[in-house]
Amino acid sequence: MMLLYPPGVYWAEDDTDLLIGVMRRGDFAVARHVLDIGTGSGALAIAAAKAGAASVTAVDLSVRSVIATWLNNRLHRAGVSVRRGDLFAPVAGRRFDLVVANPPYVPSDSTELPRHRIARSWDAGPDGRALLDRICAGAPDVLATDGVVLLVHSELCATQATLDALTAAGLKARVLAQAHVPFGPVLRARAAMLEARGMIYPGQRIEKLVVVGARHG
Ligand SMILES: C[S@@+](CC[C@H](N)C(=O)[O-])C[C@H]1O[C@@H](n2cnc3c(N)ncnc32)[C@H](O)[C@@H]1O
Repeated sequence: MMLLYPPGVYWAEDDTDLLIGVMRRGDFAVARHVLDIGTGSGALAIAAAKAGAASVTAVDLSVRSVIATWLNNRLHRAGVSVRRGDLFAPVAGRRFDLVVANPPYVPSDSTELPRHRIARSWDAGPDGRALLDRICAGAPDVLATDGVVLLVHSELCATQATLDALTAAGLKARVLAQAHVPFGPVLRARAAMLEARGMIYPGQRIEKLVVVGARHG
């Protein structure tokens, strides 16, 4: 899909594609009201619209990402509604049939998250779970009774922790897809730190991506 990427906006990557594949194969978006959290370029939101969603709302904290999604939505005439804000805050009180998210999940060396840099797209605290845990905890509040959540992230930030967090939030969760991909530039630059912390084995330069699906139990 042809998308514009202004400076500072996350380029759709393997994680984006893995989630889009699950969404398409499972017909999860067809005739459904969809929420895309951390929309970046709008890649997931526009893919959901093209897959036949009834409506798509896209949220991002970054002004540049909101502008990129607005532009890409115009380009594709996708009918996506774009909101700026923190995770679920812009849609508080609303319910969606499908919630998709490719949040920041790369372990970083600080608990403080970047506020104004492209690193906001991937930095997620020492265990990579700063955003993931918040999404797992908040998802039930925006999910329709028969709604589905689809989250993509790396095994580096613990798939079991995501399953446990979603279960603790009252949802039934399982892994729907996985893929092994070479480290991108961010992980390559952090490999030594991750090795020192025992988060990868020495010389590991491949990560496993997972898509976790969840629904009300
Ligand atoms: C890994 S990128 C994913 C972009 C896009 N969904 C994709 O799959 O290509 C994560 C996005 O989350 C956004 N983000 C980070 N923290 C956020 C927050 N607290 N609330 C909303 N969006 C956030 C970033 O600005 C970035 O655009």
